[in-house]
Amino acid sequence: MNTHSATRPPEAAPDTACGTAQITLSGIERVFHLGDSSVHALAHVNLRITPGEYVSVMGPSGSGKSTLLNVLGLLDRPDAGHYELEGRDVTTLSPDEQARVRSLRIGFVFQSFHLVPRLTAAENIALPMVLAGIPARERETRVAQALAGFGLADRARHRPDQLSGGQRQRVAIARATIMQPALLLADEPTGNLDRATGEEVIRLLEALNAGGVTLLMVTHDAALGGRARRRILMQDGAIERDERLLVTSPATPHEVPPEKPSEKPPEQPPATVAPDARA
Ligand SMILES: Nc1ncnc2c1ncn2[C@@H]1O[C@H](COP(=O)(O)OP(=O)(O)OP(=O)(O)O)[C@@H](O)[C@H]1O
Ligand SMILES: [Mg+2]
Repeated sequence: MNTHSATRPPEAAPDTACGTAQITLSGIERVFHLGDSSVHALAHVNLRITPGEYVSVMGPSGSGKSTLLNVLGLLDRPDAGHYELEGRDVTTLSPDEQARVRSLRIGFVFQSFHLVPRLTAAENIALPMVLAGIPARERETRVAQALAGFGLADRARHRPDQLSGGQRQRVAIARATIMQPALLLADEPTGNLDRATGEEVIRLLEALNAGGVTLLMVTHDAALGGRARRRILMQDGAIERDERLLVTSPATPHEVPPEKPSEKPPEQPPATVAPDARA
């Protein structure tokens, strides 16, 4: 997708966005203590995200981007504040309950893939379904679909060290989406990939977003960050800027694209992506 982006005037503030919130963060604080010193990694973060949004998160190293994603992904607990996911306060849930929400509603993609080295591509993709207790027969069907959908059918039995970087990240995305999450969090998903392979991965993520999954992506790449519909800039643990982006095709440079339908996105986003989403 070849897009240009521009910032809307300040009056079109993101918090005027209509629609039901999928995510509401209120007064989130995260402080890390190391010896005598402490780091305020998240400082009074308020954020509202509606279903199906495509948000990029940018900012300098150490500004709190990964900490924010970890809190959103229930991989880390804030020290103060509330996180409401799909109308439910998830900050007060037990670790087991949080793991269940994570398993069913959230997919996470990391810069360094985080695949299990001794498992094959197929086994890595199946892992969330094993943990969720999905029967073997259904797992096999869904893994086969995912392998085909992500262009990995001929790599099913390869272990991560027998795959290219792009293939590893595709396995990781297949694993992150095999449970058909409503929210996909990607922390510098192209950080370890060359530009062409990174582009392929971004197109996959964007195709999943087009299928209804909310996508939050941390990136240091301004061009990638500008492809999102909304860009959050972090600084010293706080959201310094939160801007809606005009994404226009080169053929219609001044046209505001139609908003996504206001009704809820599909309950079950597609497990696979259209073949043309792959480079
Ligand atoms: N487990 C931890 N213990 C102590 N300090 C931490 C921990 N995790 C993060 N920090 C600190 O919190 C701050 C925010 O870190 P975070 O990883 O969120 O930054 P980031 O914006 O993702 O940076 P980068 O772009 O380099 O990935 C940093 O100053 C970091 O040193
Ligand atoms: Mg980071």
